[in-house]
Amino acid sequence: MNTKFETITLEQNGDFATLSVSREKSLNALNALVHTELKECLTLLKDDNPDNLRGLIFTGAGDKAFIAGADIVEMSSMTPEQAFNFAVLGQDVSLLFEELPFPAIACVNGFALGGGCEMAMSCDFIYATETAVFGQPEVKLGLIPGFGGTQRLAKLIGRNNAKELIYTGRNLKVDEAKELGLVVKVFATKDEMLSAATKTLEKINANSPLAVSTAKSVMNEGNDLTITEGLKVEAKHFGGIFASYDMKEGTSAFTEKRKANFKGE
Ligand code: HXC
Repeated sequence: MNTKFETITLEQNGDFATLSVSREKSLNALNALVHTELKECLTLLKDDNPDNLRGLIFTGAGDKAFIAGADIVEMSSMTPEQAFNFAVLGQDVSLLFEELPFPAIACVNGFALGGGCEMAMSCDFIYATETAVFGQPEVKLGLIPGFGGTQRLAKLIGRNNAKELIYTGRNLKVDEAKELGLVVKVFATKDEMLSAATKTLEKINANSPLAVSTAKSVMNEGNDLTITEGLKVEAKHFGGIFASYDMKEGTSAFTEKRKANFKGE
């Protein structure tokens, strides 16, 4: 994919790509341009996937910050209508991460505050460095989270934990973030984290890509449903996948005691 962006970079490496926010001087703060470019890039990956990617790493340029939040300077002069549109734009981006037909791992290096924490939570799971700091400090600025934090944080770490964090606006060090289940794995350096994320994507990619993307969409859809409704969605897709090449190949490979050769179909 050759699209040129000003505030983000997309680097392909075989089956995977690394998407970075690159406004290092502002600690990768999310302004409207970043969101517009993320939306364009993720829409292309979701709808066309021109390079047939099988996984995405989402990170921030430099070592100091993943994303230190929405751009406070830009927000400070917004009207209520502009602020509404800004929230919706960021929420669209957050949904696109969830709708990608392959896994997206957030790799958090340093600050993931406000909108940064919200964007990390939109990915399938979060890896972090020992220096990572999470938080939803919006109330300290007289705002509330607006890119999904009031909804996703509660689903991830439980309503009470989420309320305590959002009401106090306090920062969370990586150990506590891991204890709460926000972070899946912690690494000493950014390089170690990125290579571990690539290894995880390779491990995932050895499975049926169709089964992985179906599991992703069923799990995301179920997040908003009652258990009864969620189980119906699961059964529907469980049945549906039996019409796939990958299901026939995976089960035949098991009985023939050989390695499966999946096609994602
Ligand atoms: C704009 C930001 C920024 C932000 C940092 N910068 N965060 N600019 N928006 N969110 C800029 C600083 O102004 C500074 O620019 C440069 O990045 C380096 O930051 P420093 O503050 O000098 O670094 P440091 O002292 O190390 O402090 C790091 C920090 C602090 C603790 C992360 O920058 C900070 O508190 N940032 C704001 C965090 C925050 O409140 N995030 C939530 C935003 S609200 P200059 O030009 O001075 O060098 C939000 C809402 C989401 O995210 C929903 C919207 C709909």
